[in-house]
Amino acid sequence: MPTTLPTISASDNSVIDEVLVLGFALDKKSKKFSILSGELRVDQGPLLQALTDLGASGASDEVIKLPGSASKLILLTALTLKSDGSIAHEVLRRAAGAAARSLAGTTSATFALPQASKQDFQAIAEGALLGAYTFDEFRGSSKADRKPALKKVTIYSKKAKDKSYLQGIKRAEIIAKYTHLTRDLINTPPSHLTPDSFSLRFKKLAASLGVKVEILNESQLIKGGYGGIIGVGQGSANPPRLLRLSYSGKGAKKRYAFIGKGITFDTGGLALKPAQGMEAMKSDMSGAAAVCAAVLAIAELKLPIHIDAWAALAENMVSDKATRPSDIITIYGGKTVEVLNPDAEGRLVLADAMVRAAEVGKKAGGLDGMVDVATLTGAQVVALGTRTSAVMTNNESFREQFLTLAEITGEAFWPMPLPEELRASLDSPVADMANIGDRMGGMLVAGLFLKDFVDSELPWLHLDIAGPAYNEAKAHGYTPVGGTGVALRTLVALAESSAAK
Ligand code: BES
Ligand code: MN
Ligand code: ZN
Repeated sequence: MPTTLPTISASDNSVIDEVLVLGFALDKKSKKFSILSGELRVDQGPLLQALTDLGASGASDEVIKLPGSASKLILLTALTLKSDGSIAHEVLRRAAGAAARSLAGTTSATFALPQASKQDFQAIAEGALLGAYTFDEFRGSSKADRKPALKKVTIYSKKAKDKSYLQGIKRAEIIAKYTHLTRDLINTPPSHLTPDSFSLRFKKLAASLGVKVEILNESQLIKGGYGGIIGVGQGSANPPRLLRLSYSGKGAKKRYAFIGKGITFDTGGLALKPAQGMEAMKSDMSGAAAVCAAVLAIAELKLPIHIDAWAALAENMVSDKATRPSDIITIYGGKTVEVLNPDAEGRLVLADAMVRAAEVGKKAGGLDGMVDVATLTGAQVVALGTRTSAVMTNNESFREQFLTLAEITGEAFWPMPLPEELRASLDSPVADMANIGDRMGGMLVAGLFLKDFVDSELPWLHLDIAGPAYNEAKAHGYTPVGGTGVALRTLVALAESSAAK
């Protein structure tokens, strides 16, 4: 049962919902609060006094609830201002998200937050929907005690009736629906999500959107020569799959391939991970979930573009059949890899899928770009922390395009290099290459491993989302605990910006 999305609409007059959401900000110079609410009139005096009396700080994620008169509750959500007094759209997205998150258990809320542009409006709509998420599928006796997510969202805007604003609402709904799907899949434990069930779930969803599905099973993978996916998956009772979702929009010119790491559980294999930290490895399929959900979102948006999403699905387990350190496998296309560490499994399944995706793309007329998305390395988290993802590339202008879009979607990505001198550490005395190299710069070494499987002429991005994919800390802004759905928004934006050009 997927998490249900709140209904959402826009209104240009003050709807009376159960809750009225307003913004507030602290002016750093005057140390005074102000209410920021768009054009909606508010009784400012008592509200400002209440903020002071309650000792509000105005720091991001702060929400203050007060009894209302027309609406039952007034919720004040903190907005942090730029030095010129303006508000970044990501600040609005997060403030709307923090408000929606804290409104679990209530029915309806009108979000009257300041908007300087359509982008701001869009950010508020997205934030409100993204914040209204709960994952209660596996609660049994405690389910009734849980507060359900906010059910109805109204975005107040003077331009609510503009066609482009109505389209903005529709877009926010699609983005949130597929982000929630991504989160649901990440949160689903490996007892309930296997390579097979992951594939079947997308097969069902793809049917109504005209997205074509191809699923290679274990024997087809063996016959086809997918030594990476087989090598990683052979230790598990839940056999591996290669899932392909193909979308071809009307009038499409550009063709992209998105490839996701889909390890439904990563024990580390015979390089067994310590118990602490292993439980988070149900999230090791976050990349696959994001790329597949992104293609469904792109299909629902009917964008004029060709996209194939590939999910390289396997469970990395320990058994008498598991790949041993020193085993040599053959990646799709013929390159051999000495598996020195079975815990560096993501690059092996991705390599198979990337070579295959490029081959299929070439036959169809040539790929314009390839993006792989993976919870690939602990080194990514060490380098950039839990909220910033890394982007590596063989093409700087493609990376700049992506980073410009990420700035708009509010997803934090940071460019990382692929230093040539680290490549030699992946040399193997017995095979074409080894699956691990220098420990220092481990994120970059993993990127360099993948780079060996990409044609240097093909613009390629490697997104390492190891930290940001799964939130083990407290919820913040529109980000819940658990799966976050990171990368989906920027992948959709990439398809939008490249469509029919
Ligand atoms: N799935 C992990 C990476 C990971 C770690 C993701 C922490 C999210 C949080 C990956 O398969 C892995 O185990 N990588 C190893 C690679 C090493 C053996 C070269 C790592 O980072 O330790
Ligand atoms: Mn691993
Ligand atoms: Zn892994």
